[in-house]
Amino acid sequence: MTSELLQKAREFEERYGAYITREERPAFHLSPRVGWMNDPNGFGIYKGQYHLFYQYHPYSTKWGPMHWGHAVSRDLLHWEYLPAALAPDRAYDDAGCFSGSALELEDGRHLIMYTGVQSHRGEDGVRRDLQTQCLAVGDGIDYEKLDRNPVLTGEDIPKGFNVHDFRDPKMFRKADGSFACVVGCRTEDGSGAILLYESEDGFRWRFVTVLDRCWNEFGRMWECPDFFELGGRTVIMTSPQDMSAVGLEFHNGNGTLLLIGDYDDATHTFERQAVQAVDYGLDFYAPQTILTEDGRRVVVGWMQNWDTCASQPEDRWFGQMTLPRELGYRDGRVIQNPIRELEALHGRRVSYMDIPVQEELTLRGVYGRTIDMTVTVRPRSECGYQSFRMKVAAGSQHYTSVTYTPLTSTLRVSRDHSGTNRDYVHVRECFVRDRGGELKLRVVLDRYSAEIFVNDGEQALSLTFRTPLSADGISFQSQGKTVISVEKYDIVMDRQ
Ligand code: FRU
Repeated sequence: MTSELLQKAREFEERYGAYITREERPAFHLSPRVGWMNDPNGFGIYKGQYHLFYQYHPYSTKWGPMHWGHAVSRDLLHWEYLPAALAPDRAYDDAGCFSGSALELEDGRHLIMYTGVQSHRGEDGVRRDLQTQCLAVGDGIDYEKLDRNPVLTGEDIPKGFNVHDFRDPKMFRKADGSFACVVGCRTEDGSGAILLYESEDGFRWRFVTVLDRCWNEFGRMWECPDFFELGGRTVIMTSPQDMSAVGLEFHNGNGTLLLIGDYDDATHTFERQAVQAVDYGLDFYAPQTILTEDGRRVVVGWMQNWDTCASQPEDRWFGQMTLPRELGYRDGRVIQNPIRELEALHGRRVSYMDIPVQEELTLRGVYGRTIDMTVTVRPRSECGYQSFRMKVAAGSQHYTSVTYTPLTSTLRVSRDHSGTNRDYVHVRECFVRDRGGELKLRVVLDRYSAEIFVNDGEQALSLTFRTPLSADGISFQSQGKTVISVEKYDIVMDRQ
């Protein structure tokens, strides 16, 4: 039965979502049907289609009582909206249906596990909501919350752990077909931990172990965990709150981590050996992965960050997902590249080989705001060069820049001049591997965002901007002499 609250949200999104034209939105990145979007939820395959739900507040472009928005796709690039799937309509989730995941069951039903947030005030009058894990089953459109919700509560967490921060269950199937899930929690010392639960049928769950703990080293609360195998290793992916910068590797605030190690399923022990950020740009948080039918581990993140949210009164939607990316494991690091499905959308190709660059230059045909472009940079002489800069989404007043400095081997993105009038972080820098001044940048632009993949996926940097679409220029410049090759494709959405 669709509750009144869910019905209201469905009617609202259908009515007001219709005012948002396709041109006002990103072309191939999922944005909310109307209103506000944060984390990707329930990312998976159901009845042969990709489903992507999202944290959703249809009624405004600000965060509010969380619903789940819903979209489907056959190629992870063309998305079609479905009616909102969940609304905060029960006592145990009256303050919101927070993030979670979904799986297809053998009997054809779609199982959702999400965090129910129940409003609660402590004896001192301070609001301390309770978080539990809840289930809903459905047919890909309508979902019924279980009568016996919640299924994981304060009873199911280790002593001293905190039921006010117990959220974001990510379910997966084990090799033997049984179910498991990871959930973020806060420990006695206030920092995060990842809890592992198992289940035979997806409905009755038991606590297994604490997979890893933050010990206040990488931020505090660990949100939105994921747990998967990649290239023979096991990876925990999580999004810590309150991180502090460590050199250029992490940045302040809400970050993203890959904890790379080995997992022994017999003893349920995860041994962490390396830690890496997921994305080095400005807008990336709360990612979730799936395993595609052809065996690719694909990640999608919220292309925003809690400290970069600044919707304007005139906005009809706010928030978007990143491009889905294929994860790989190379030389001890996780790498990521755009899903190969993007190549099927390649339209007109423009390419240049070995163009000398020094003064700022543009190349005929190299422009656009929905493009997939690869630029290879090399030094033109033995003495190398001081810096190389590329501007995208450039017009007479606007641009977003990417600058490489070989001496320090750092790449810097800046949207200072992208047309923003808000005073939040606009610049970020990361180390890239020193290749003697050689650099390969793949830049995917989609109207209001840029995603930059460095040296075949060694780093990814995502950022959004509000630059007017008329600013579609691209230019190249170097201090010192470089030579570049460029291959650019327009992205064409309507070919299917
Ligand atoms: C992460 C997060 C999650 C939570 C959701 C609420 O961005 O804080 O931990 O489930 O957003 O919208």
